[in-house]
This record gives sequence, C-alpha cells and structure tokens, in this order.
Amino acid sequence: MDVFEAADSRIACRWFLDKPVDPAIVRDLIGRAARAASGGNLQSWQVYALTGAPLADLKQRVAAHIADHDPRHDDAEYPIYPKTMWEPYKGRREAHGVQLYGALGVGRDDAAGRLAQYKRNFEFFNAPMALFIAIDRKLGPGQWADLGGYIHTLMFLARGYGLDTCPQESWARMHRIVRDFVSMPPEQMLFCALAIGYGDHTHPANSFRSPRAKLTDFCKFMGFE
Ligand SMILES: Cc1cc2nc3c(=O)[nH]c(=O)nc-3n(C[C@H](O)[C@H](O)[C@H](O)COP(=O)(O)O)c2cc1C
Repeated sequence: MDVFEAADSRIACRWFLDKPVDPAIVRDLIGRAARAASGGNLQSWQVYALTGAPLADLKQRVAAHIADHDPRHDDAEYPIYPKTMWEPYKGRREAHGVQLYGALGVGRDDAAGRLAQYKRNFEFFNAPMALFIAIDRKLGPGQWADLGGYIHTLMFLARGYGLDTCPQESWARMHRIVRDFVSMPPEQMLFCALAIGYGDHTHPANSFRSPRAKLTDFCKFMGFE
C-alpha cells in the first residue's frame, strides 16, 4: 500500500471484527509513528497501550460507570468543542450526525438509539487494541497540534498492516477512570483514545465515506495559474 492509498482508505472505523491483532505490530506502530514531526522536536505525545485482560477490565469499569447515566454529560479536562457552534462547523457536524445515524438506521428523534451508539465508544467498537494519548498539561496549542500529527501518522501506518483505527475524543470524558487505571501522572492530561483492529467493512457503521469541503473553501491559491 502506498502513502496515497493509506491516506485515502483511512476511515474512522466504528466496528471491528473479532480478530486478534499481533501485539508486536501495535508496538511497532507506536514506535514508528514517533517519526511524526513536532515543533522543536518536543515529541509531546504520551501513549498508554492496552489489550487483553487490562483492556477488558477497564471497559468493565467504564461500563459500570455509564450504565445508568448519559456519558455525554461527563466533562473532559479540556473543551472538546466550543460551547456553541457556528457555520460552517455547525452544519458539518450536523451532516456528520445525519450520515452516521442514517447509516445505522437510528432516527433523528431516537434519543435511546443515539445514546447507545455513543456508548459503543466505550467498548472501543469491539477493537482488540486501545491506545490513550495524553499530553503534559503545561504544553500549549503547538504541542497539541503535534499530537494530531502523531495520531495521524499512526493511523496511516496502521493501514500498511491492513489495520483500521478510530480516534476517540469521547474517551476524554472518562479521564478519571483512565487516569486511575493506567496510573497517569497528575501533570498529564488525557486527549483522546485510539481504537485499533481489523475493521468490519460489512458493518453499516463503516458503510459511508465522510465528505470534505471543496478545496477552494479552505485554501487560497496564489500564483498557481
Ligand atoms: C481527535 C479526533 C477525535 C474523534 N473522536 C471521535 C469519537 O469520540 N467517536 C467517534 O465515533 N468518532 C470520533 N472521531 C472521528 C470523526 O468523527 C471522523 O474523523 C470524521 O467524521 C471524519 O470521518 P473519517 O475519519 O471517516 O474520514 C474523532 C476524530 C478525531 C480526529
């Protein structure tokens, strides 16, 4: 698979096959992704990798926590989104919801169906491997951007092994449980999780391709003619 194919075939995979992933592959990915660029080569990423019994145990703890309430009301340590949205972001977010819930056959007014899908985040969508990505809380926007570079490098490299991924900021809402479970030091803050596994490409959750804005909507070209 070449780099173009890797970038083009990556999707936020929201259901994984019951197929184990060789831990040596994930270890390799975590290391190779650190070739990502970072301002001043600060390499701000901190990674916690879980599989097997520890992952099952953590999922059980979170399941018990969210059993009788809506996890969308749990706060992350940072604002995942601005409190109110404006265009074009508002429309894009709504369109994403329509596409995802539409593919799953969950209606607009089906609050229980939407909640159930959100809660699947905390099962890692059945993925056998999970990463948590954290950052020193004293670092700033530049280093947070570098985290994105690390995560995307890992996601593209995963395609090289035929693996699929889903970055999950929803897990930031479970920061207390995760911190306690992985013994994350107080100076670190949980940014997101990353599910890794072999995607079930027959599952409705993976049946659509998310749209993108037109090139000219986000890039001003000068001197290209
Ligand atoms: C940092 C980050 C966090 C995300 N968190 C979640 C999440 O918690 N749950 C989820 O289902 N998708 C999550 N996504 C996936 C986005 O919804 C998805 O990337 C976007 O809709 C574009 O679709 P695509 O990745 O399939 O191209 C996240 C993506 C990123 C980059």
